[in-house]
Amino acid sequence: MAGEELVREGHGFGRALNLQPGAQALAAERPPAKFMLRDKSLIPLSHQHQRALALCVRIDRAQPIPAADLEIWQTEIEQNFDQEIKIHFSAEERVLFPAAREFPELIPLAEDLIADHAALREFFSRAQMRRMSSETLLAFAQRLSRHIRKEERQLFERLQQLMSPEKLLALGMQLEAALKDAAQSCILSNEAARLRQRP
Ligand SMILES: [Fe+2]
Ligand SMILES: [Fe+2]
Repeated sequence: MAGEELVREGHGFGRALNLQPGAQALAAERPPAKFMLRDKSLIPLSHQHQRALALCVRIDRAQPIPAADLEIWQTEIEQNFDQEIKIHFSAEERVLFPAAREFPELIPLAEDLIADHAALREFFSRAQMRRMSSETLLAFAQRLSRHIRKEERQLFERLQQLMSPEKLLALGMQLEAALKDAAQSCILSNEAARLRQRP
């Protein structure tokens, strides 16, 4: 059930982003959901959603995951978090959610998405500590894909309707800067950790 839903989601994003149907892991022969074309200000986040969703689909398809494979999955999840998702969450929390909160109708959704981030961070720290079971991995994939679906279908779609083209353009520039800033501080803290580890 989850796999079917995840696959359909990926197909919709591909169309929304005008991507070539190359992401075969996400392709599905069924009528696409109706998506607005994604505004260019939100495309970097949507691309990252697509990559996270591909991971969710792979976890779902790998069920039941044997105990011997848990280590490799958790390593991959940890790497995804460190290299992209941590930065993505930070940009959403610093720029996107505050922009959404300016519209009263989007405040409950923004709160809900912030709570999702907290729950997902718990999953990521369990992966980092290698404490995930096969069931936890599946619960993680389902929670992450539900979160992405809410952002794409509800938050992004509504923001595109509510915000003027000028505001969307400014939002895109702020997001770009936040993604860059977070990536830079991530590189610096990784570098500092490496230096600390030297004898
Ligand atoms: Fe998010
Ligand atoms: Fe997101």
